[in-house]
Amino acid sequence: MPVCYKEQVLARLSLLISRDQIAESVHRLSRQVEQDYRGSNLLLVGVLKGAFMFMADLVRGLELPVEIDFVRLASYGSRRQSTGGVRLQHGLRSSIEGKDVLIVEDIIDTGHTTRFLIDYLQKRRPASLKLCALLDKPERRQVPVSIDYLGFTVPNKFVVGYGIDFNQEYRHLPDIFVLEEKENEA
Ligand code: IMP
Ligand code: MG
Repeated sequence: MPVCYKEQVLARLSLLISRDQIAESVHRLSRQVEQDYRGSNLLLVGVLKGAFMFMADLVRGLELPVEIDFVRLASYGSRRQSTGGVRLQHGLRSSIEGKDVLIVEDIIDTGHTTRFLIDYLQKRRPASLKLCALLDKPERRQVPVSIDYLGFTVPNKFVVGYGIDFNQEYRHLPDIFVLEEKENEA
């Protein structure tokens, strides 16, 4: 069903990944993380706001005692055209020294945000640092990033839902959609 936008844009949502597919994938990722981190001091670092739903489901699925923390990052320029400049809006609230840290990201696009976060975390001397991402959009990559735990590879389209937004909208949706846009001809 088309939605009319303030900026005279017509937007359409088409289903890309259903809530059942997400649940299955999160379950698989939880099992993998569990196996790899049993007996260690695992700290999950979620990247706000996009990863909040994924982080909650992943943690709930883990049969491991873990700590959690969040960071918030902002990129300069618009989301659709990343300029590569990233800044920290909200840093860690706990020490990560000597801990096994797993970054939990919603989507790896150009890779700039993740690269910045990896550098920020490495400086704080974790025992280990790995990356878990729900979505990977490899066609847009500008900086190489190695993803240790991945939910889905997605095409070069703008996606929303399951925590992921466009201008703060659509985060609440339980499924993941492609946001298709075109000029409003009306
Ligand atoms: P990167 O720095 O280009 O890798 O961008 C990463 C961040 O941009 C992600 O964590 C998202 O917050 C946002 N982003 C990238 N692609 C999309 C998308 O398709 N929909 C919504 N947000 C996106
Ligand atoms: Mg993000």
